[in-house]
Amino acid sequence: MIETITHLDALRATIAGWKRAGLRIGFVPTMGNLHAGHYSLVKLAREHADRVVSSVFVNPTQFRPNEDFTRYPRTPDADTSGLEAAGCDVLWLPEVEAMYPFGVALAANIHVPGVSAVLEGACRPGHFDGVCTVVTRLFNQVQPDVAAFGRKDYQQLAVIRQLVADLHVPIEILAGAIVRENDGLAMSSRNQYLLPDERATAPAILRILQAMRASAQAGVPRMQLETEAEAALRAAGFAPDYAALRDPDLHEPDDGQPGPRVALIAARLGKTRLIDNLEFDLDT
Ligand code: PAF
Repeated sequence: MIETITHLDALRATIAGWKRAGLRIGFVPTMGNLHAGHYSLVKLAREHADRVVSSVFVNPTQFRPNEDFTRYPRTPDADTSGLEAAGCDVLWLPEVEAMYPFGVALAANIHVPGVSAVLEGACRPGHFDGVCTVVTRLFNQVQPDVAAFGRKDYQQLAVIRQLVADLHVPIEILAGAIVRENDGLAMSSRNQYLLPDERATAPAILRILQAMRASAQAGVPRMQLETEAEAALRAAGFAPDYAALRDPDLHEPDDGQPGPRVALIAARLGKTRLIDNLEFDLDT
């Protein structure tokens, strides 16, 4: 049976007991409204740990004032049963007051420069500060040996990896594969905001990412293929924030240089903002 814990003292007592027993602890932080993508992270953590904690906390500091914090879907009962079925031992449900004891305005802020500044960071200033600020707290609360993050939030994963390396956080970061619907749309809690015609359009994002990969492999210069991808997004009905080809550290790669690449898209469909990415290798 999964145990739901809402107070830090109780969480610490459970974790301390596990540590005394020599058990390895895995952690999956979430904002709830869980889907198969989240559950695959719980299963991944389970493969690397004896016990798994998952947190559900809709973190106010990572939403911008005009974003969907208040309407972010909250589905506690379904989340609890889904986590239990996926093999999670403890659901950590902190209150905002416990997460930010001095209040959000006075919260110590964690800023990871560089990788936080581009793409999502440029479109959503302060977003990654909010993510790093809450993830640092969650890491300190749970003190896991491993923590799993999804590759769908590619830049978030890169930011967390840099945070952990820079602050010498003794936690191994695991990366879970993107889980997609049958038509290719990456699973996301925000997909449910899509109106029926938008939902029918949304899988075009993956097709455009695949076209970016094909163009890169055919030697099309980066700036040209990014412009073409944005045009394709507009033609399909999206308002693109970016379509970008980057190296794994999110730097702009030189044209003609072989190596690993990631194509990333952020685009709005109606009121819903979707992100997705595709990793691939560019051979000589
Ligand atoms: O990816 C998410 O759901 C959130 O950004 C995270 C990592 C749980 C922090 O609030």
